[in-house]
Amino acid sequence: MYLILWNAGVLGILIPQVLGMKINYDGDQVLKIIPQNKDQVLCLQNICSSSQLDLWKPLQPEDINVRSVVHVRIPSVALQPVKEAMLHCSLSFNILVGNLSQLLGSQEEIKLRRRRSISDYDYTIYHPMEEIYNWINVMAEKHSDLVTQHYLGFTYESRPMHYLKISKPSKGPKKIVWMDCGIHAREWIAPAFCQWFVKEIVQNQENDPRIQKILKNIDLYVLPVLNIDGYIYTWTTDRLWRKSRSKHESGACYGVDLNRNFNVKWCNFGSSTNCTSNSYCGASPESEPETKAVVDFVERTKSDMICFLTIHSYSQYILTAYGYSKDLPKSYNETIKVAAMAASELKKKHGTDYQVGSFANLLYEASGTSQDWVHDLGIDFSYTIELRDNGTYQFILPEDQIQPTCEETMAGVMTIIEYVNDKYFPNKASTSCGNLHLYALLSTFLTIVVMT
Ligand code: ARG
Ligand code: ZN
Repeated sequence: MYLILWNAGVLGILIPQVLGMKINYDGDQVLKIIPQNKDQVLCLQNICSSSQLDLWKPLQPEDINVRSVVHVRIPSVALQPVKEAMLHCSLSFNILVGNLSQLLGSQEEIKLRRRRSISDYDYTIYHPMEEIYNWINVMAEKHSDLVTQHYLGFTYESRPMHYLKISKPSKGPKKIVWMDCGIHAREWIAPAFCQWFVKEIVQNQENDPRIQKILKNIDLYVLPVLNIDGYIYTWTTDRLWRKSRSKHESGACYGVDLNRNFNVKWCNFGSSTNCTSNSYCGASPESEPETKAVVDFVERTKSDMICFLTIHSYSQYILTAYGYSKDLPKSYNETIKVAAMAASELKKKHGTDYQVGSFANLLYEASGTSQDWVHDLGIDFSYTIELRDNGTYQFILPEDQIQPTCEETMAGVMTIIEYVNDKYFPNKASTSCGNLHLYALLSTFLTIVVMT
């Protein structure tokens, strides 16, 4: 009886959200498994597909490999049969999360918390979408000399997508750095970082010479939440929702993985044509209005765009092209060098280790990602950044980690932006270097004078 109900839930029949209820993960566990040989891989793939388990890492059973880590959520009613099936093929597992609803419970309290006024917007808590909309307005109004709000497009559920443009007046030609957050709905730390980033730039631009140098040449475009419909759905109904909210097969299933919907080797690897899948690539490339909105913007601005950053969680990776192939593009040597510089600056803040590499080699093969589509347009410095953590809390990163995560990510992201600035504006970058050389010369001279 339980099993029938549970299956029905997974298949999308009789699902609580249809009844206007919130999905309850009471007693669900997240397991970590590392299959040691081919047989164990096959066995685990079978268990995952036949029970339609919610794979978190990798996303699809076919991508499970020998000696690579698997994270999977097991609904409480399936725990016993699944664990028995795993023991049957000698698969050992660790329990990463003992009771998912306890972790989620602490997130529930967020809503009950009394929020302070927007003048001291709290950047160390997660905000529901209406608060983020309001924050976007307030930033543009309060800092109108630096920050403006612009319309990018509409979501499937007809909500406006707004981005913030951070720009200083300038006579010379400017370049563009783009950053989007929250293409995957449940990765809440990503939108939190986009907001943190804007706050940091606005707050520090008057005193920070590096920000001043960058803003002379570059306009920063920030889309705080790309997948707005999905993000709202994670607050109202299903905290672990990943995709957008478009309707397919007359309501048999919902949502497209927006990071599989771009027109680059569309739906080849690591994506699914099945609309119940978490990596459903959509009916056609750019079928989703959210994807189209980003594509239209990048098409319009590509001749000026020098860097594209898309922020996700979790894994602690800085990823470059390609996702669709394990081959490496010509740009790889340089882009990975910059990623390594960023990871090293990031680590200096709180000691957090990041790995750098190509998307397909480090995470998994995936076609139709925004990173690759942008890269193949000719924008080499196109990065996917997977923020904290490394497996302890996964998508449910506790609020007390928002600040340290944002601080370290800021250091990493600024390293990338400064590099592209200095590369595309070498003369301007060398003014400060020129001064440095002058100082160095002068101090050597003075030292010699003092010594003689
Ligand atoms: N943000 C990642 C994504 O786009 C998911 C990270 C967790 N899964 C994993 N395989 N590490 O799919
Ligand atoms: Zn993601």
